[in-house]
Amino acid sequence: MKNETMYFENNKLKLIDQRKLPLQIEYFSCKNYHDAEFAISEMVVRGAPAIGAAAAYGFYLAALEFAGLPEEELEKELKKAADKLIAARPTAVNLSWAVEQLLDLALANLNKSEEELLAILKDKADQIADSDRKINKKMAENGNKLIKENAVILTHCNAGSLATVDYGTALGVIREAHFTKKNIKVFADETRPRLQGARLTAFELMEEGIDVTLIADSTAATLIRDGKIDYIITGADRIAANGDTANKIGTFMLSELAKNFAVPFYVAAPLSTIDRKLASGSLIEIEERDSEEITQIEGVQIAPENVKVYNPAFDITPAENIDAIITEKGIVKNPDKKSIAELFQV
Ligand code: MRU
Repeated sequence: MKNETMYFENNKLKLIDQRKLPLQIEYFSCKNYHDAEFAISEMVVRGAPAIGAAAAYGFYLAALEFAGLPEEELEKELKKAADKLIAARPTAVNLSWAVEQLLDLALANLNKSEEELLAILKDKADQIADSDRKINKKMAENGNKLIKENAVILTHCNAGSLATVDYGTALGVIREAHFTKKNIKVFADETRPRLQGARLTAFELMEEGIDVTLIADSTAATLIRDGKIDYIITGADRIAANGDTANKIGTFMLSELAKNFAVPFYVAAPLSTIDRKLASGSLIEIEERDSEEITQIEGVQIAPENVKVYNPAFDITPAENIDAIITEKGIVKNPDKKSIAELFQV
């Protein structure tokens, strides 16, 4: 059986524990919203669309716990749960995008019976998760149009089925190219410090039978300069209204290399990752994570005790470095404010 990123069963959210992959395949069980909040902030589940869907189920767990309280108290508890879930990680907009939809729905239906309210919220969480699968497949088909036969693709972090409910964004495009027999090859950056490339992307692509070679992040420049890379494809955590894109730290550096050596640089992301409220990337909050992610490996200290550390989890790639944003609604070449806005016109 394929390993599911997440599923909901017997009033529990089950998440494949991405801290333990690929060496152990274990599921982490969330029985209340605090567990979901922990799982998101500790990166049991990670990747923008995946944390959005997990938070939607997390909010439903809060509703399960508090439904039945008098309306005023219920409203207070649900708002508190929504705030906590949204604050679990600040950069990926999919988190607030998902939780706010459930909160709005809950607030509009507080007067319904306990059963009715829970059914409405469960349907919404299921719908967010199910539509992610379909969106990723559509995005992959769109992105595959950009990929030639025998292409060599470089990717960063993990924007695969593990970062979504299924299929992936950047890795969705790669999967689609593979399934349509384009004979592609992939280089995966290991992606310091959390090693999502080494632990997750390499694992996921090997399971799929896709030719993948793992490299240290610092090897990418040499491969790009030597003409060994045809495309760079990454995912995104938040895209501002002008196309500036927040993604895993190191993405900006790749985009500069891509520009310098004229390698097409593509971002694959669903519309739910576009934050039209933010005019440019400089307004995107960048999460900073614990210093231990840099000073330790698997809990073993490798740097001097108390060394100063700077550990931003994401960086901003300016829109002018991006040749195309691949979405479920189509491909936006040379993204800017106008072309991004057009995506949202019906
Ligand atoms: O810190 P992470 O592992 O959650 O960061 C994930 C990424 O940066 C992904 O590229 C992004 O969320 C897109 S996932 C489809």
